[in-house]
Amino acid sequence: MKRLALLTAIIALGACSPKPEAFSVIPMPADVTLSDGSFCVKGAALLLDDNMEEVLGEEAFMASFSAIMRFVDALETATGVQCVGGKEGGFRFSANPNLGPEQYYINVTKDGVEVEASALNGFIYACETLKQMLPAAIYGDKKAKADWVLPCVKILDQPRFGYRGMHLDCSRHFWSIEETKRYIDVMTVYKLNRLHWHLTDDQGWRMEIKSYPRLTEVGAWRDGTCIGRDFESNDGIRYGGFYTQDQLREVVAYAAERGITVIPEIDLPGHMVAALAAYPELGCTGGPYKVWQRWGIAPDILCAGNEEVFTFLENVLAEVIDVFPSEYIHIGGDECFDPWSKDIVYPWDVCPKCAARMRKLGIKKGPEAKHLLQSYVTARVQEFVNSKGRRIIGWDEILEGELAEGATVMSWRGVSGGIKAAEKGFDAIMTPYTFLYMDYYQSRERDKEPLAIGGYLPLEDVYAYEPFDGLAAGAEDHILGVQANLWTEYIATPEHLEYMLLPRMCALSEIQWCEADAKDYARFNASLDHTFEILDAMGINYCLDARGLIGLDRVPARDSLELAEYLNQ
Ligand code: ACM
Ligand code: ZN
Repeated sequence: MKRLALLTAIIALGACSPKPEAFSVIPMPADVTLSDGSFCVKGAALLLDDNMEEVLGEEAFMASFSAIMRFVDALETATGVQCVGGKEGGFRFSANPNLGPEQYYINVTKDGVEVEASALNGFIYACETLKQMLPAAIYGDKKAKADWVLPCVKILDQPRFGYRGMHLDCSRHFWSIEETKRYIDVMTVYKLNRLHWHLTDDQGWRMEIKSYPRLTEVGAWRDGTCIGRDFESNDGIRYGGFYTQDQLREVVAYAAERGITVIPEIDLPGHMVAALAAYPELGCTGGPYKVWQRWGIAPDILCAGNEEVFTFLENVLAEVIDVFPSEYIHIGGDECFDPWSKDIVYPWDVCPKCAARMRKLGIKKGPEAKHLLQSYVTARVQEFVNSKGRRIIGWDEILEGELAEGATVMSWRGVSGGIKAAEKGFDAIMTPYTFLYMDYYQSRERDKEPLAIGGYLPLEDVYAYEPFDGLAAGAEDHILGVQANLWTEYIATPEHLEYMLLPRMCALSEIQWCEADAKDYARFNASLDHTFEILDAMGINYCLDARGLIGLDRVPARDSLELAEYLNQ
């Protein structure tokens, strides 16, 4: 692919002062050796080694080429100077088959920058590290005066965990395709590689399903929403939206270009009121049901005794599998039964079809019965998903009753579900609410923060999470990784969404990427000033509680000077 290695004409180097940015990359790379001197990147040459296509194969090479060109475009825009094609003594990207797929090597000397990786993700992460080592203006969309130099440094880097996720709830509040892409852009900066997209819930069904059009005609819209925490109130405003399959594919492709796999979630058999509103025959009582207008745990769930429900689930999941190429399909499984309302009579307790199913399965009456019936639903769905060559993830409730081999458990009710799963030989992903629920307050001064679901999860507590704590020796390999969840009952605007996400997601990224002994809150905290500049340049909001400024209406710090002045007041 020489034609791609030979890029455009030479432009003279601009004058650069040798003042490197402080080394404040998040997540901190594994192995960093800084040395004296720096390399000026303004108008630097760019060379892609001929071995790249041979080692990566055409598809991964083309994707890596695009990732590198996004970096070069950002550099050219911010410096105002074009890079040079096909010459030694600038950026040289080459393939190194000895590196792992998410590993990369960077060597910056006074003469240039060598970058090596063996796969798309390695090249993406190398570019992201280079960007973070440069002035934050590289994240902006205009030419900026800055010291366009990289410090001389050798970096060999790879993540601790293969699964580095962030979740987004688009059911309670809906996020446009552009807003979702911005979310992905932020994940890219911090080297996350899984977007868990919670596409369905009681308050809105967000994915077009061609074989069940009422899911979006009816299920994507609610006729009002409760106001704040008053579940009896209602704003009377029709609210909703959905994504067409083309739009979903667009997001999948956008994420894939950035090394991120989108994992769709169809939450079942609970959290299904929006689907029941569209197809009431799928519920135990036959309805009628309305797309839910309040938050909490709805008692109405899919009927486990009705074969039509399984036909529905298989048809829906077939379309989901067609749109999303991910190895994993998340099938939910949480909160079918409200743990806070012990005396409640659930439809499953009184439904003749569910009773017949339990008799047929030999499930005896008692407190375990409903969990065993849920296990039956999970197992049937798992069998279908597996028959399509995919695997399931479910929330940790799927461990209650009996769980079939091959399922992956997402531990959210604290860490115990993940620990139990891993010790039983199931794979697990850790998303404990105790450390990683980003819909929680960030400050003790709740009155200064926007209304949140509750809790208290400051940045330092997120950072402190250690995924192997409490785990029996030998079970570590079953912990695939770590994810934070962002439920959006109380979050209705992108500005608020970003405020809840950041900088807590930066702390998450160090849990996911850095070995336990490489974490250092003081170093991380000091790096945040640079990350705030990056977010300012991207036009992304964040919480400044870590700097003592609480709330959405903090004084906006839109450039570093303003921020520094503000912080020094
Ligand atoms: C959950 O937070 N209900 C998984
Ligand atoms: Zn039933």
